[in-house]
Amino acid sequence: MHSLITCALPSHASRCANAFNAGRLTCYLVLFVWVASPDVTSGQPSLSSPNVLILIADDLGIGDVGCFGNTTIRTPAIDRLCREGVALTHHLAAAALCTPSRAALMTARYPQRYGMVGAASGGPPVLVHVASRAGLPSSEPTIGKAFAAAGYRTHFTGKWHLGSGCGFLGRSCQGPLAHGFNSTFYLPNTLFERANVEGSFWVWPEEDFHYHALVGTSAAVLAVAVLLKRLKFNVAAAVVVTSLLVAAPAAWFLLTHYRFHTPRWYQVSEWMDFNLNFVVMRQTSVLHQRAPLESLSMDMVRATVDFMRAEAASGRSFLAVHAFSHPHTPLVCAPHNRGRSRHGRYGDAVEELDEGVGLLLAALDDMALYNNTIVYFTSDHGGHLEALGADGQRTGGYNGLFKGGKFQGGMEGGIRVPGVLRYPGVVRDGSKLSSPTSLLDVLPTLLELSGLPSVRELLPDAAQPLDGLSLSSLLTGAGGATEDPTRGRLLLHHSGMFVDAIRYNTGEHVYVASNDVHVSRRARVRRK
Ligand SMILES: *[C@@H]1O[C@H](CO)[C@@H](O)[C@H](O)[C@H]1NC(C)=O
Ligand SMILES: *[C@@H]1O[C@H](CO)[C@@H](O)[C@H](O)[C@H]1NC(C)=O
Ligand SMILES: *[C@@H]1O[C@H](CO)[C@@H](O)[C@H](O)[C@H]1NC(C)=O
Repeated sequence: MHSLITCALPSHASRCANAFNAGRLTCYLVLFVWVASPDVTSGQPSLSSPNVLILIADDLGIGDVGCFGNTTIRTPAIDRLCREGVALTHHLAAAALCTPSRAALMTARYPQRYGMVGAASGGPPVLVHVASRAGLPSSEPTIGKAFAAAGYRTHFTGKWHLGSGCGFLGRSCQGPLAHGFNSTFYLPNTLFERANVEGSFWVWPEEDFHYHALVGTSAAVLAVAVLLKRLKFNVAAAVVVTSLLVAAPAAWFLLTHYRFHTPRWYQVSEWMDFNLNFVVMRQTSVLHQRAPLESLSMDMVRATVDFMRAEAASGRSFLAVHAFSHPHTPLVCAPHNRGRSRHGRYGDAVEELDEGVGLLLAALDDMALYNNTIVYFTSDHGGHLEALGADGQRTGGYNGLFKGGKFQGGMEGGIRVPGVLRYPGVVRDGSKLSSPTSLLDVLPTLLELSGLPSVRELLPDAAQPLDGLSLSSLLTGAGGATEDPTRGRLLLHHSGMFVDAIRYNTGEHVYVASNDVHVSRRARVRRK
């Protein structure tokens, strides 16, 4: 099934890869201030190495979470994490879009380094098909590979969206299994509104001139056949008519279900999306051809809990990444979560997401893993401010004080995300960390907190260098404020391939220089 889709859908692989090669990039890549993650002294993975649970929300705004200031939405489980861990109040996604942001979280490297940002020529900035051949290059270090190399058992649940296509005849498939995860229950792509729109196979849009051209051409070919018949070229006439019978329906199918003739050449029809793009995979098999939207949140929780239970029973340390499909559209919840929140379908989806977080935390309590598990929670980027449902209801999140949102480059609302990290007894509970931290920092931080060797030691063959750094000393309180590792760091914020904002932490102040194109074209410096 999977390889069949590979052949049937277009890809933008080469365009994506070309993005990195564009000469323009190199001029700002030299600006990178690369701060090496400090070497970890402790070496060997031991039985006492903590488990790690990473929770990633999809499109959740920082203003949608109780412990980040929302008073009308109920997120008791995330609030519990804030009480028991450190809230990262200046936490930043590496992009205001899911594919590049998730790539940065997985690798601790800017996605611009390896082409996971779309093409300047107008290619999609996120992967749009299950079978897109573009994907996270195998040379990249990932969270999965690093923990697997340290002897952990690793699992991925939920939205992957970093490439899942296969090569010719289903060879060298991408996806979480190719990036260090031992088991999976995952959506190769992303959900969006069309996951809930059946779409029609028989479509004839009369306003589209391509269809008139198709009729005209068919009529002309038919006329030629009639002429040939009159001239007694019977065999030739039969060949022409037979070709028409094959070519005309094929042309109609291509016009209707592919978008090659539009500026959005990389898209397909609603019908194709609905039937091919929202699959749920377990390992290498398609488990559901169409994601079961109502039960999906609970199915995903069950998959992660089953994995954690099996590993806890065997006494091995585990890494579980749980990437929620909520609160991204189409916002379909289980019946018991519908109409419960004060914020429509969007609020319901946030509350169902929180229910999932609660169940995962309860499972850890139940297995007596509370003390021995690091839990990290974040969102891939800010809420989508303009999202509106067909019924006029708002279907995107709220970014609190911050201007802008999803799709909006270096604007603060697009990249400022909630972040919480809990490690009982090690990380200070109920505290806040206001240094500018990034999703790029997650991998080195988790390794150091777990007492494991650095990425470079674990994965000597992986691409270099890392853009994230370990926040371990900040989180545990080891070392005073003078040792803030984010001090002196220059963080870049991109729109696609281009830098839209930079941020610099002097230790006393954090400066942001932003090319705020959505408001004015003047570069501005604002002091936080
Ligand atoms: C809470 O979140 C909802 C949903 O995004 C939003 O509409 C509302 O304004 C937020 N309320 C507060 C007080 O932040
Ligand atoms: C888990 O995956 C890693 C990386 O792919 C692999 O090296 C390791 O052998 C796997 N472990 C098990 C128990 O399957
Ligand atoms: C976690 O560890 C602390 C300190 O050792 C202990 O007091 C507490 O009971 C433990 N909690 C659980 C749930 O095991």
